[in-house]
Amino acid sequence: MSAVPAASAYELVLALHVMAVVVAFGVTFAFPIMFVVGGRSDPSSLPTLHRIEYSIERFLINPTLAVVLGAGIFLASDGHHWSEFFVQWGIAAVVVIGAALGAVMIPTAKRAEELARAAVSASASGEPEMGGEYAAAVRRLNLLGSALSALVLVTIAFMVVKP
Ligand code: HEM
Repeated sequence: MSAVPAASAYELVLALHVMAVVVAFGVTFAFPIMFVVGGRSDPSSLPTLHRIEYSIERFLINPTLAVVLGAGIFLASDGHHWSEFFVQWGIAAVVVIGAALGAVMIPTAKRAEELARAAVSASASGEPEMGGEYAAAVRRLNLLGSALSALVLVTIAFMVVKP
């Protein structure tokens, strides 16, 4: 009977690293659909959708990003990868994503929630008029959100290809 080879610590941590990437960023690719469907079918859902957006960023993405970083540090040390470009890129990506979430995405989503809630309250039972400041906040969220999604995809490509 052939024995199943045991997984090494490196392989287990690599699996954890990739799982954390999926858990942290998977949902973010669905955000645009969530907002388009919510905005078209029921604009009064927009304040709640923004609250869901920044709650996911705070309570799911931020902690899981720390797992991606911690596992990455183990892999880079155990596998002697510190001098390689893909590792330096990965660290820069984690710093940029963490800073963008804390400094822009979360505060802007909170502001968008407030503005949307005020518009919904002011509209009584009619269609809420969201206004220019709300549109600007959503534009910022969309632009930066798309850039971060692209950064995640490029980082995955660099981690696999190791240029
Ligand atoms: C947004 C950030 C990151 C993403 C999306 C990401 C994604 C990935 C993926 C998908 C793999 C699997 C590649 C493969 O098995 O071919 C991987 C491997 C790896 N990552 Fe990351 N990673 C990120 C950040 C980091 C950081 C910050 C570090 C180091 C501090 C790091 C170090 C590594 C190492 C050493 C490997 C193993 C390479 C190998 O043995 O083939 N990663 N990463």
